[in-house]
Amino acid sequence: MANRPLNVGLVGGGKGAFIVHPHQRAIHFDGTRRVTAGALHADPAIAMQEAANWTFPLQGHPSYAEMIDAQSKLPAEQRLDYVLIVTPNHVHFDPAMRAIAAGIPVFCEKPLCLDLREANALVKAVRKAGLPFGLAHTYLGHWTTRLARYIVRNGLIGDVRWVDSYYVQGWLATKLEATGQQQATWRTDPKLAGGSGCGGDIGTHALMQLRYVTGLEVEAVSAQLETFVEGRPLDDHFTAYCRLGNGGKALVRASQVCIGHKNDLGIEVAGTKGTLRWRQEEPEQLVVHLPGQPDRVYWRAAISAGDGFLPKDKAIAALLAEPTVPSGHPEAFHDAFARLHRFFEADVRAWQAKKPLQYAGSGYATIDDGWTGMAFLAACLKSSAKKGAWTVMPAGVARGA
Ligand SMILES: NC(=O)c1ccc[n+]([C@@H]2O[C@H](COP(=O)([O-])OP(=O)(O)OC[C@H]3O[C@@H](n4cnc5c(N)ncnc54)[C@H](O)[C@@H]3O)[C@@H](O)[C@H]2O)c1
Repeated sequence: MANRPLNVGLVGGGKGAFIVHPHQRAIHFDGTRRVTAGALHADPAIAMQEAANWTFPLQGHPSYAEMIDAQSKLPAEQRLDYVLIVTPNHVHFDPAMRAIAAGIPVFCEKPLCLDLREANALVKAVRKAGLPFGLAHTYLGHWTTRLARYIVRNGLIGDVRWVDSYYVQGWLATKLEATGQQQATWRTDPKLAGGSGCGGDIGTHALMQLRYVTGLEVEAVSAQLETFVEGRPLDDHFTAYCRLGNGGKALVRASQVCIGHKNDLGIEVAGTKGTLRWRQEEPEQLVVHLPGQPDRVYWRAAISAGDGFLPKDKAIAALLAEPTVPSGHPEAFHDAFARLHRFFEADVRAWQAKKPLQYAGSGYATIDDGWTGMAFLAACLKSSAKKGAWTVMPAGVARGA
């Protein structure tokens, strides 16, 4: 059946979990994808109980290993079309490797894994299997982020001189993990979160936003990973001053201790002809400043090509044609997730039909983006250990070394 919905299996997501919920809504957003199976918890009994109590029928599995193993025994056309990994960072590598080995595409939460060693192995496995692998860098899914990418990458604000890419939160300003709060507990444990707490959790989003919008790579960093809450073993405040591939500079910064900031992710790109600003807490608008002109505020889906700044071209027409609600009926977080899954679905269907992938990198972040995030964290950890000494980004599989 050519138009059957894609079937998705969850790895993680039961009992008190957070990010599974926006993903699950996003998967069901268009009616062309659905969640049909899941290994929802590390404890097999809880995993099965959670599946039995799920809000819609779901084939439960006691563990992700058993779920993937069962799938690998099915004929290809009956297997899950992709698995979604929504577990803490230390449970990304193993399920991803198992799914790849079973020939099942993977959509994985960020950061890709725990360290560069795991990232190298994942890149090699994905290349060898040749299947779609997406990484859930949510904020690429905002229509306005995609417009920002078009504006900057097409040189409309000139050459990029400076980027401030940030993600500022305040929820870990106290020792929340000491209360047993689920999300805080694993995020502040190096064995479960990786070598950088704040940098891994949200600094990687800021890095991805910079790379996605500008198309520029970070070549070297001078970083400080700091911990303000006493007794916390990982950074809760992360600052990386970056040298970009075009000679420009950037700040990739993140914090979890700035009280009052909720999910304050944003980007400011200063070019030789103008500056662009965008914030995810006000995701429907994007601001462009041009010298000697009134500020331009572009609302999602309410842009006019050929307005003296935005040219009339196919890319603008394609952006305007993306299925969405009219401007003024707000889109936000869930729509961004849906856009990522929509593009990933298109690539899974293309791969199944043995056609080239169309949206890897432009519609969702890829395995190479995941590798770059881990390489960036490795460089920042090294630099910070040397009091912020300039440190070159590691070479590696995703950079062709
Ligand atoms: N893209 C985003 O915007 C975004 C936002 C939040 C979290 N995340 C990422 O999503 C992941 C999960 O974060 P969260 O806040 O939802 O965590 P969470 O603690 O809320 O949920 C994790 C889930 O994984 C389950 N789990 C743990 N080990 C398991 C195992 N071995 N088998 C099956 N299930 C297991 C837990 O029981 C829980 O249901 C993290 O990697 C995090 O960095 C991304």
